[in-house]
Amino acid sequence: MAKIVVIGSASIDLTVISDKRPLAGETVIGKELVLSPGGKGANQAVAAARLGAEVVFVGAIGKDSYGNEIVNNFNRNQVNTQYLHQLDNIASGTAHIILAEDDNSIVVIPAANMQLTPAMIDEALAVIHNADIVMVQQEIPISVIEHVSKICHDLGVKLLLNPAPIREIPSKIISEASYITPNEHEAAALFPSLSLGAALARNPHKLIVTQGKDGALYHDGKQQILIAGFQISVVDTTGAGDTFNAAFAVAIAEGKSFDESIRFANAAAALSVQKLGAQGGMPYRNEVEKMLSYE
Ligand code: RIB
Repeated sequence: MAKIVVIGSASIDLTVISDKRPLAGETVIGKELVLSPGGKGANQAVAAARLGAEVVFVGAIGKDSYGNEIVNNFNRNQVNTQYLHQLDNIASGTAHIILAEDDNSIVVIPAANMQLTPAMIDEALAVIHNADIVMVQQEIPISVIEHVSKICHDLGVKLLLNPAPIREIPSKIISEASYITPNEHEAAALFPSLSLGAALARNPHKLIVTQGKDGALYHDGKQQILIAGFQISVVDTTGAGDTFNAAFAVAIAEGKSFDESIRFANAAAALSVQKLGAQGGMPYRNEVEKMLSYE
């Protein structure tokens, strides 16, 4: 069983479903408000657990009703919360999502997620040491990501950096990470002086650029390779990137090849967009295997 440690954000998503996205200064009437568990870290942890990994989550939430729901959701999905810190006097993180015109736009209020500290990471050193892979995203303090990167590098544990949402990130982290998984827009921000092709060529078997339903690109040291995605009908793309990352991490940790791991991740991500909510459509192992068997 793959052992994965996810260090990141856990939030509640407040999703407004609307026919129209309001312009600046405009008010529109929406259809529905849906509250559901989210946060990139929590999404990746839940996705990896549903795909069969043993998952430990390290993060910070508030002592409020949203925080309690986050804990319950982790328990329902068999994610270990031993290193989830429920803090006094701060709200749990929230994400404010508008789902309109076939796409989402998101404003994240990190709140407790930004209270995660390097000392809290140190408490989880033993499980990090024992992990097949550690996953980190960018909804927590950069100082924590730097600390995680150094620990993984020193211990020789693989680190997957999902550079989302895009923020300035020290080049040391980029060089220490085993895998980096931006979308095209994030890749351009991470490697501003390089074309996409050059960035991929300089980071073989490391940089994976996701392309939505078209699949994902990487370089194998000789050539650039596109692993094609699956064509499916889309209900909500929120959390598709998180599902991709988790599925890739599970597959790599299980010893699948790079190509196979990306194919597995493409299938999981495709299944995830067929239901509402970041975690609503996140598939279980048998669903991904069934989809791959149709290829
Ligand atoms: O990646 C999707 C996630 O981003 C949402 O669940 C929301 O919480 C935002 O952080």
